[in-house]
Amino acid sequence: MTTVLAITSSASGAQSVSGRLVAEAVEALKANGGVDRVITRDVGSDPIPHLTAETVGALRTGEVKTEAERAAIALSDQLIGELREADVIVIGAPMYNFGIPSTLKAWFDYVLRAGITFRYSEKGPEGLLKGKRAIVIESRGGLYSEGPAQAMDSQEPHLRTLLGFIGITDVVFVRAERQGFGPEASAEAVAAARGELSRIGERLAA
Ligand SMILES: Cc1cc2nc3c(=O)[nH]c(=O)nc-3n(C[C@H](O)[C@H](O)[C@H](O)COP(=O)(O)O)c2cc1C
Repeated sequence: MTTVLAITSSASGAQSVSGRLVAEAVEALKANGGVDRVITRDVGSDPIPHLTAETVGALRTGEVKTEAERAAIALSDQLIGELREADVIVIGAPMYNFGIPSTLKAWFDYVLRAGITFRYSEKGPEGLLKGKRAIVIESRGGLYSEGPAQAMDSQEPHLRTLLGFIGITDVVFVRAERQGFGPEASAEAVAAARGELSRIGERLAA
C-alpha cells in the first residue's frame, strides 16, 4: 500500500494551476489503486517560516536551548516525518522569478538536515531518503523546456538537486508551461500535463 505526500506551494489558492494539477495527480494515483493514505502540505497558504538568527543554529546542529529553537526543530521533525512516511511525493511548484516560490524553498530548508536526511561520508554527500518516487508539477508563465529561455530555468535543476541531495532520485517532471501566452495556449498545456499525469498514475500502479 502507498502513502502519498502532496505538497502545494502557490500563493494563488484555488486559482492555482499547479495546485489543481497536484489534486488531479493524486486522483490519478488513487484511480489506479493501492493508495491508502494522502498527506497534504500546502506551504502556499500556510507558509513555512524563513530561517532566522533564532532558528538557523538549531536546524544545523540539533541543539535546542530556546523556545524558538524547540519550535523550529519540532516543525522540521514533523515535515521530515511526513516525507519519511511517503512512498510517492507529488510537488506543485509554480515558477516564481525563474525559480521556486520562497515558501517551497523554506520547506526544503527545514527538511535538508545533516545526519537525518543526508550525511557526509568519505565519498561525499549521501541522501538518506531512498526508495521514494517524486512527481513534480511545474507551472510557468513562459516556455523554458525549449527555445531561448531554456538557460533561465532555475526551477527544474534546483528541484532535481534538492530532491537528489536527500536521496530522491526517481523524479518525473510534468510541466504546464505557456500559462501567460493566452487562454488557448494555457488550456492546451494544462490538458497535456493532465494526460501525462494520468499515464504516470497507470505506470506507477503497474
Ligand atoms: C510572483 C510571480 C513570479 C512569477 N515569475 C515567473 C517567471 O519568472 N517566469 C515565468 O514563466 N512565469 C512566472 N510567473 C507566472 C507563473 O509561473 C504562472 O502564472 C504559473 O501558472 C503559476 O502557477 P500557479 O497557478 O500554480 O500559481 C510568476 C508568477 C508570480 C505570481
